[in-house]
Amino acid sequence: MVDETIVSNHYDNSSLLELIHAGISKLGKSNKTVTVEDLAPVDEFHIGGRVATDHLMNQLTFSQSAELLDIGCGLGGASRFIAKHYGNKVTGIDLTDVYVSVGKTLTDWVDLKHLVSLHQGSALDMPFNDMSFDGAYMLHVGMNIQAKGALFTQTARVLKPGAKFGVYDVMRTKEGNLSYPVPWASDESFSFLSSPEEYSALLQSSGFTIEAINDRREFALEFFKQLKEKSEASKGPPALGLHLLMQHTSPEKMRNMISNIANGLVSPTEIIAKKI
Ligand SMILES: C[S@@+](CC[C@H](N)C(=O)[O-])C[C@H]1O[C@@H](n2cnc3c(N)ncnc32)[C@H](O)[C@@H]1O
Repeated sequence: MVDETIVSNHYDNSSLLELIHAGISKLGKSNKTVTVEDLAPVDEFHIGGRVATDHLMNQLTFSQSAELLDIGCGLGGASRFIAKHYGNKVTGIDLTDVYVSVGKTLTDWVDLKHLVSLHQGSALDMPFNDMSFDGAYMLHVGMNIQAKGALFTQTARVLKPGAKFGVYDVMRTKEGNLSYPVPWASDESFSFLSSPEEYSALLQSSGFTIEAINDRREFALEFFKQLKEKSEASKGPPALGLHLLMQHTSPEKMRNMISNIANGLVSPTEIIAKKI
């Protein structure tokens, strides 16, 4: 069993709230006027950010009354977006203390505490009752979890029969050595990549059927191209962005991730599953 503190230490960043607060001020906003939209560049820590979240949500077609679970919610950006735009109640769980505490503050700032609740904890041992959610999703989390069978068994346990589960992870597409560091790991000791076929088999043996698998490689490469054009056209980094989460190793992590995808070794992939 992998020591989960290695993973949470990787994401730990004690000055994160201060950095986000400073970024908000640079936008000419305050914690009273900041919006869910303003926060999107910093609180959606996955390839394609909010556009990618919406792409997944459009396939999950949850009803407004569905209570949802965000597994490995990070700062809770996707939870707040879904609560605000679709009206769902969303519960998030994440290993990294700082992300959960900053996420709670951001939820308070945008006035969504009545719909979004975030908890610190492991996805492998979720403190939720059996069959308590109508749907779930997981954005760029499986790369840190070796025991994916246990993860999907836990997920199946807390979902009601017929509930959809959307996964959007960076998955292995070809054998070969990856360049590190990447955003989810500084080296391969806590990077656990599986192929879409391995995800599907584990989901199926944990009580899900597979409805769709989408390789998002082209979307990712276009997203990175646009990001590069934007950064070349501007002076310095944006007020709010993922560089605040990844700090000084951000350029190297981004470069390596793009080259790993461009070389065909990994690809961000969606899986739409349904609990039997
Ligand atoms: C790349 S971030 C993605 C965060 C969020 N899903 C998003 O898209 O903004 C990966 C997240 O997975 C969380 N994580 C990794 N392993 C976990 C586990 N076993 N249980 C819960 N969260 C975990 C990390 O703490 C981190 O916040």
